[in-house]
Amino acid sequence: MAILICGATGNIGGEVVNHLTEKKLPLRAFVRDRNKAAKLAAQGIELAQGDFSQPDTLEAALQGVERAFLVMTSDPHQVELESNFIDAAQKAGVQHIVKLSVMGAGQLPSTFQKWHRQIEQRLETSGITWTHLRPNMLMQNMRWFTPTIAQQGAFYNIVGKAKISHVDARDVAAVVAVCLTEAGHENKSYVLTGAEAISFDEVAEKFAQALNRPVAYVNVTPQKLKAARLTNGEPEWYLDAELELFTCWADGAGEPVTDAIATLTHRLPITYDEFVRYFAQTHAQDFSQT
Ligand SMILES: NC(=O)c1ccc[n+]([C@@H]2O[C@H](COP(=O)([O-])OP(=O)(O)OC[C@H]3O[C@@H](n4cnc5c(N)ncnc54)[C@H](OP(=O)(O)O)[C@@H]3O)[C@@H](O)[C@H]2O)c1
Repeated sequence: MAILICGATGNIGGEVVNHLTEKKLPLRAFVRDRNKAAKLAAQGIELAQGDFSQPDTLEAALQGVERAFLVMTSDPHQVELESNFIDAAQKAGVQHIVKLSVMGAGQLPSTFQKWHRQIEQRLETSGITWTHLRPNMLMQNMRWFTPTIAQQGAFYNIVGKAKISHVDARDVAAVVAVCLTEAGHENKSYVLTGAEAISFDEVAEKFAQALNRPVAYVNVTPQKLKAARLTNGEPEWYLDAELELFTCWADGAGEPVTDAIATLTHRLPITYDEFVRYFAQTHAQDFSQT
């Protein structure tokens, strides 16, 4: 019986594949584009090609699958698309789904949190056992800010002095692997955060130190941030949803810290200092733009 990993070409799913490969578990990666998944195929990982918008591809991919990790990019049709997966999994007799949700699901009034809660509820009523993983902002989101740090020595947001308990995607993936392979996590929700909450001013200081050059956090109005990012060609629906979430963070909604990562993985979460050193090294070329 296989474990199906969705989003295997993405941030978290890719790291989950690494964890399960290390454990030598029977694994199938659900991918939209075989070319993008060439590295996985080269590692000998079985690929199932498909898309959540094409239920017939799901039926084939889910054959013989006992457990699955459900994740996808934020998308205006995310509720419908992930629900397609849950419906197909139910028909295929999948026993357990680990669903990548978000911190504040069902609590915060923002779009991403509402969508994820709707999907969680769909899963809870499917008869399949579930684990909801609700991470706070991923440290890897710093890739959003890399271009302006490289070009202007600054990054921009609207959260002011509020603190956020950023979490590393590699820790989230480690928890996914635990929940897919160990008993005791059925029908439970875990909020995943880093070990401490820090402000964007502190993030800027840490980047300045790692890059050995000045980096500043600049607080701007939502209107100014939206206008700048629209100019970059980002979709308006996405910017509006993000601004809703940033507004919640500005009010302190991103500050809570949990011990779920340490409890579930038996090791401390990756710190922001450790992340910054790794990120500065792996993105050295991006930071060297002028
Ligand atoms: N960023 C954060 O701070 C944060 C925090 C908490 C929760 N989240 C949640 O995390 C999720 C994103 O996770 P991530 O960072 O791992 O995303 P990611 O790196 O963007 O990867 C998303 C994966 O989903 C696949 N995908 C997209 N549309 C699909 C479809 N229609 N059918 C099948 N697969 C599809 C993508 O395939 P391709 O490679 O072919 O595009 C990719 O492999 C979102 O739901 C978001 O709400 C994010």
